Amino acid sequence: MPDFKDQSLLVTGASGHFGRIAVEELLARGATKIVAGTREPDKLADLRDRGVEVRRVDFDEAGSLAQAFAGIDRMLMVSTDGIGKRIAQQTAAIDAAKAVGIKHIIYTSAPAARPNADARTILQEHFATELAIAGSGLDFTILRNHMYAENNLAGVAQIVASGQLFGLVGDRGTAYVTRADAARTAAGALLLASGKAIEDVTGPAAVTNTERTALLSKLSGKPVTSIAVTPDELAAGMVAAGLPGDFADVLVAFQIDAVLGYHGVVTNIVERYSGRKPHSLANFLEDNRSALVS
Ligand SMILES: NC(=O)c1ccc[n+]([C@@H]2O[C@H](COP(=O)([O-])OP(=O)(O)OC[C@H]3O[C@@H](n4cnc5c(N)ncnc54)[C@H](OP(=O)(O)O)[C@@H]3O)[C@@H](O)[C@H]2O)c1
Repeated sequence: MPDFKDQSLLVTGASGHFGRIAVEELLARGATKIVAGTREPDKLADLRDRGVEVRRVDFDEAGSLAQAFAGIDRMLMVSTDGIGKRIAQQTAAIDAAKAVGIKHIIYTSAPAARPNADARTILQEHFATELAIAGSGLDFTILRNHMYAENNLAGVAQIVASGQLFGLVGDRGTAYVTRADAARTAAGALLLASGKAIEDVTGPAAVTNTERTALLSKLSGKPVTSIAVTPDELAAGMVAAGLPGDFADVLVAFQIDAVLGYHGVVTNIVERYSGRKPHSLANFLEDNRSALVS
């Protein structure tokens, strides 16, 4: 593989969890011209002290992006958390990247990104962004980051306390990947990838809800059972537990994708680009065992 470590490498969203880890990985792997882009440069003073150039990058300010991207060869564009306005935000960044001569875009997408109505806004926005990148004519690596292992920590103490994990009938498993593994993979792609590719970024195995409950039981010492329900029942249960209806709808849509098998794909890309084997969900939960008790 070629090595682009001496080119000018931009990471956008560098103050976020993902972007920050990607910049640390670039430093660790000897990149010599790292540019960290963020809406809040003051948050990255420590990186500046370590030789990283920090620039203000805000996709909401389309007119500022050509200057913000000046001189950059390759860009890791971290998808923003602005659900509902990401097409405008990210298209502005892609247009500016093309205008200033960036050669390669790495983008953090999601599994089964698609325009279908059942996919909901999140995946539709990722798909539209993928299309815009492909349409730009630039080289690209679309990284379809699978479900973060971290998502398992939301509400896990209640699941263990109640002894019940509700999931969909027909679940075919989810290849959870840790955010750190995904971010180090993205940094590796910024350093190494060439050409045009769409890659699924996954953990080492697809884990079903039944297997998850077995892990939770083993690590907590308390019995946890997997209870399979319909999408309507799952959504109703989430709303009864206090989640807003729209959010419950999105979470259920992701679980339907797991039933369809979209989240069960397993690839070797983490090892290929980060140089390390991906953490398993079991490793991750062991490292976060304290979160299992309330
Ligand atoms: N696969 C999964 O399970 C999963 C789960 C959660 C999220 N995600 C996706 O992964 C992304 C990164 O995750 P994270 O954990 O690092 O999230 P995070 O810490 O909440 O970061 C949000 C990111 O959005 C950036 N951002 C927001 N508005 C922006 C704007 N106007 N212009 C440019 N950047 C903007 C932020 O950059 P600055 O603050 O530095 O400007 C920051 O990097 C999320 O944004 C989301 O798209 C995936």
